Amino acid sequence: MNPEEVIHLLGGRRRRSHRKFGNLHSVSDLRRAARRRLPRAVFDYLEGGAEQERTLRDNQARYGRYRFQPRALTGSSAPSLEQTLLGRELPLPLGLAPTGYTRLIHPDGEIGAARAASEAGVPYTAATMATTSLAEIAANSTGPLWFQLYVNSEWPVTERLVREAERAGCQALMVSVDTQVAGQRLRDLRNGLTIPPSLSWTALWGIAIHPGYWTGLLGGPGLAFANFPDATSPAAGGIAEITKSFEAALSWQHLERIRELWAGPLLLKGPLGPSDVARALAAGCEGVYLSNHGGRQLDRSPHPLELLVAARREVGEAAVLLVDSGIRTGADAVIALALGADLAMVGRAYLYGLAAAGERGVRLAISMLAEEMERTMQLLGVGGIAELRRLGPELLRLDGAAVHAGGGW
Ligand SMILES: Cc1cc2nc3c(=O)[nH]c(=O)nc-3n(C[C@H](O)[C@H](O)[C@H](O)COP(=O)(O)O)c2cc1C
Repeated sequence: MNPEEVIHLLGGRRRRSHRKFGNLHSVSDLRRAARRRLPRAVFDYLEGGAEQERTLRDNQARYGRYRFQPRALTGSSAPSLEQTLLGRELPLPLGLAPTGYTRLIHPDGEIGAARAASEAGVPYTAATMATTSLAEIAANSTGPLWFQLYVNSEWPVTERLVREAERAGCQALMVSVDTQVAGQRLRDLRNGLTIPPSLSWTALWGIAIHPGYWTGLLGGPGLAFANFPDATSPAAGGIAEITKSFEAALSWQHLERIRELWAGPLLLKGPLGPSDVARALAAGCEGVYLSNHGGRQLDRSPHPLELLVAARREVGEAAVLLVDSGIRTGADAVIALALGADLAMVGRAYLYGLAAAGERGVRLAISMLAEEMERTMQLLGVGGIAELRRLGPELLRLDGAAVHAGGGW
């Protein structure tokens, strides 16, 4: 065997760039790669949840309880994943959830994630606590761009953020209503994580064992909350310190004022029960974004799938319902859609990709989820999103039993 043949057998020189990512086939592979690349405290910031992490654990476990009941001989071939949402054609029923402090995870940060989302045509949600300004993110985004708002305790700051979202061309505003106070994230406390990270002895040890991560971090612009460039900037410190600038007494009056300011689609993000969902719509929201913040805020808050069924029952087909928390596979996203969601949002699933390989890793995460969704729908014998939503419960079993229409809980 000559050297060329040996190289060919080993995967070939030409395929070297592919080989680097050749063993990443699922979001759980991306998670493993992220874990290897990130210092412990940073991985824990990405991964961790609040208090006893009951909600965090439940988020994925809940998806694991469902099984699919495929339909046979339907004659459906490649299913279509397209739909129109908030007045826009979307190629995939998927979106990237807002995540604060994204450049801590990889220097490509918000811009890398927004570019990858644009390329796939899926919405990217810029966060109030982003490490890249909204204007810069917008300059790098061609796809649907949304903005997540934390209402600030100083109203003029909130107003400025809404105006900036408008100027940046954001097509929807999500108001997070679950962060009046920071969730107690014990991993961050135990790791002594501060924002920005301080160069403690532990961090110096981290530099020694994760040189790739630290070279990227120290080589880029300093980490800061880019939407707070002036004196209103939250001081550096633990997460709890930083969230002190958020409105602690958030109320429906704040929502009314935001509704007056913002003409585009408005959604509330949080673990909203049916009466709050109804009230949000009555207050002029186009929909709600059902989320327990990936288990990072109120521990023991309900699972969004459970809320989803009640919300859909409450609002009928009139409102837009987004769902996140625990979605790691395309099959999870299909379950959420079958139970009534319009869009499956992912947080950690794309952050693992970002941590592992920057913008390319986010592209990988999106394409893995898209392929899994398409394959799952094809194996279910479903031709498209509308059919998946219509058949919904018929396609699902929960803990070994049929899921009846409008529920399963
Ligand atoms: C590292 C990280 C940072 C987050 N930052 C924010 C934020 O600034 N604002 C917000 O509304 N949600 C934030 N979230 C919650 C996500 O928007 C989303 O609700 C959650 O990640 C969904 O759960 P999943 O990670 O299991 O997909 C964050 C989540 C993570 C993992």
